[in-house]
Amino acid sequence: MTLTQHVRNGWYLGAWSDEIGRTLKQRWITDIPVCFYRLPDQTVTAVEDRCPHRKYPLSLGHLDDDGTLQCDYHGYRFDGQGVCVGVAEQADRPKAALRRFPLVERDGAIWIWPGDPELADESLLPDTSWLTDPNWTHVHGVVPLKARHMLLLENLLDLTHETFLHPTSIGNAAVAATPIDVTVDGDRVGFSRRMIGIEAPPFYEKSCGLTSPVDRWQDGDFYPPGIFVLNIRVAATGTEEPDGFHMKVLYGMTPGRGNETHDFYALGRDYLIDDQELTKFQHEQQLAVMQEDVDALEAQEIMYATDPGGTAESSIKSDLAALRGRRAVAKMLAREQRAQQDARIPHSRASV
Ligand code: FES
Ligand SMILES: [Fe+2]
Repeated sequence: MTLTQHVRNGWYLGAWSDEIGRTLKQRWITDIPVCFYRLPDQTVTAVEDRCPHRKYPLSLGHLDDDGTLQCDYHGYRFDGQGVCVGVAEQADRPKAALRRFPLVERDGAIWIWPGDPELADESLLPDTSWLTDPNWTHVHGVVPLKARHMLLLENLLDLTHETFLHPTSIGNAAVAATPIDVTVDGDRVGFSRRMIGIEAPPFYEKSCGLTSPVDRWQDGDFYPPGIFVLNIRVAATGTEEPDGFHMKVLYGMTPGRGNETHDFYALGRDYLIDDQELTKFQHEQQLAVMQEDVDALEAQEIMYATDPGGTAESSIKSDLAALRGRRAVAKMLAREQRAQQDARIPHSRASV
């Protein structure tokens, strides 16, 4: 599989709202350097982090109180719309403008569309209202990952790995032993695993006070190319909805530079929302589980990177959601490449 090209016509989690203020923050996204900052009215802005003069990173420049961004190499200055308004004290006023990216700031997350701005469609974003719902609480952050984003995607779409990589927290034999139902809706891929009357994994025993046997649901939704939401429900076996403990995990799988990925996460729950000890415990566990994944994916990345010929892979039934996810991303990439080719062909030839 070639996994190193990135879809750009899609939403990615660019930053958490609390990461971006009145300072300049650089983050590579789909191999594009992006400079994030806020204007004086707190509107979040993202521009390509290359000065149109000589490509110096604008994030190494500075932001004036009125929102003017200055490149600190030769002094080009840009207004809040990214238009060059002058060069320091020189009389020259160059015709130059920064590339600005479509953004949506919602529920504490900043989503970025690195591709064609005309195609940016907010309706493609997942529901994140639980991040600000007063009946829920959550923790969030971002972890660096030195592996291509598709490996993270496949990790999340095939949770049988919990049995083997996370046996002391969220995994036990029931995960790998329980088949999934997979649904495909346009580009989106979903899976559902219903584990009934199983032994409670250690994380759920501790964070819900449950004793075995329990029912555990995992319903995953992939919003390609880089968003995944896992809906979790655990309860004493036989408990009917809406009773039970509900959790959600949002992952922003955002390609960075080369084969590096920003592994954004938010873990939320709808019970004991004021229990700070529980929040701390769950956050530590989340980070420990993610580190186990990071270690595995970075080891796997080396094996993919050194096997460019692509030795054939073996697959089993539990790979189905991951294979559908791969296919969805490949289709988006192909569509994007076709559109780029069409745009390059002169009109007279394209219509022949
Ligand atoms: S590189 Fe930015 S002003 Fe010269
Ligand atoms: Fe994992």
